Amino acid sequence: MTRASATQFSSRRAWKNLGSTASYIAAFFATTLPISISFHQLPPIPLDPASYDSPDALTSDLVNLNNVHVRVALTSTLRSLIIDLFCYPALEIAAHLGIPAYNFFTSNASCLALYLNLPSIYRNTTENFKDVDTVFHVPCLPPTLLNHLPDTTLLKNTIECDFLINCTAHLAKSAGNIINTFETLEPKAVKALSLGFSIPDGPNQTQTPPIFCVGPLIDTHRSIDGNSFWIREKRPKVLVGGGGVGHDSVGGFVTHCGWNSVLESICTGVPMVAWLLYAEQKLNKILLLKELKLALPVNESENGLVRAEEVEKRVRELMETE
Ligand SMILES: *[C@@H]1O[C@H](CO)[C@@H](O)[C@H](O)[C@H]1NC(C)=O
Ligand SMILES: *[C@@H]1O[C@H](CO)[C@@H](O)[C@H](O)[C@H]1NC(C)=O
Ligand SMILES: *[C@@H]1O[C@H](CO)[C@@H](O)[C@H](O)[C@H]1NC(C)=O
Ligand SMILES: *[C@@H]1O[C@H](CO)[C@@H](O)[C@H](O)[C@H]1NC(C)=O
Ligand SMILES: *[C@@H]1O[C@H](CO)[C@@H](O)[C@H](O)[C@H]1NC(C)=O
Repeated sequence: MTRASATQFSSRRAWKNLGSTASYIAAFFATTLPISISFHQLPPIPLDPASYDSPDALTSDLVNLNNVHVRVALTSTLRSLIIDLFCYPALEIAAHLGIPAYNFFTSNASCLALYLNLPSIYRNTTENFKDVDTVFHVPCLPPTLLNHLPDTTLLKNTIECDFLINCTAHLAKSAGNIINTFETLEPKAVKALSLGFSIPDGPNQTQTPPIFCVGPLIDTHRSIDGNSFWIREKRPKVLVGGGGVGHDSVGGFVTHCGWNSVLESICTGVPMVAWLLYAEQKLNKILLLKELKLALPVNESENGLVRAEEVEKRVRELMETE
């Protein structure tokens, strides 16, 4: 990679850590890796986060207002642009410069296959997804209920939903999608995406762009988000948060199926009990339980709560099976 050949910018996390990139960049240069990346700080955009009801509304405005600065920051020697899903307005800049723009998709191939189809599913459905318990079919994914789609899409005409639909509608317009997964983990989805398939795009059909599987990339610095915990062998004690899945004494992992946790668990050979907290994780659960058979489900009671005995039962089952 030559100097300034990669200008990466992402504003998705802007809501939580405005101005915190300095420590990330410092940590980056503190590693001993031979790095030839330069960072360009874009001028601040004078927006008041407090005046926004939703992080997505802020992100949407930020990426759009940043485009002019990104255009100025990019040099004419640039060969390609790699952007985050949420920075889709920058595709225009790449088109203007006549260079390819790739999308770096931090999630998995199944999610990409779903997202490529999401705008079409959305257009085809007049009701709110939350009220529709019919199944939709995406090649390479298990049949899924519409009301199991990501939470942000469940209500139409909200900023969150519009923004995600806008973002996903641009996935097919990139020169390729770089995915955080590996082939043997999601053979069906990776194969389907590699061969390419047509997605309905209004009156036209669009062919999916090429994919590049670069996973597993695991963020080991992030604490496991307080909602997952490790099970210590023999005496199933739970640990909330904290890293270190690879530790010998870890016999299992109770997870809500976020992609980073799932990858970490798989890469260290630790089995999982799938306990979901958010609707979008239902899709991960289906994959983990049915296709990969890497996790045991937690049975929710009618009111959506999980009884302590149920968790205990599943943890025992996990510890007693090989
Ligand atoms: C949306 O509806 C059109 C027309 O019936 C169909 O061709 C297309 O496959 C549907 N899209 C999805 C993602 O199912
Ligand atoms: C989504 O895209 C439409 C059409 O370009 C635009 O009018 C709208 O503001 C966008 N919404 C969000 C939340 O980004
Ligand atoms: C469909 O394709 C035709 C021909 O390539 C193009 O002129 C038209 O704008 C496309 N329509 C949409 C909605 O993308
Ligand atoms: C892929 O990642 C998404 C987003 O994190 C997650 O909801 C989904 O369950 C994952 N899919 C699989 C098959 O693990
Ligand atoms: C799940 O829980 C419900 C009631 O809480 C029970 O009726 C059902 O048999 C359980 N299913 C399994 C597979 O344990």
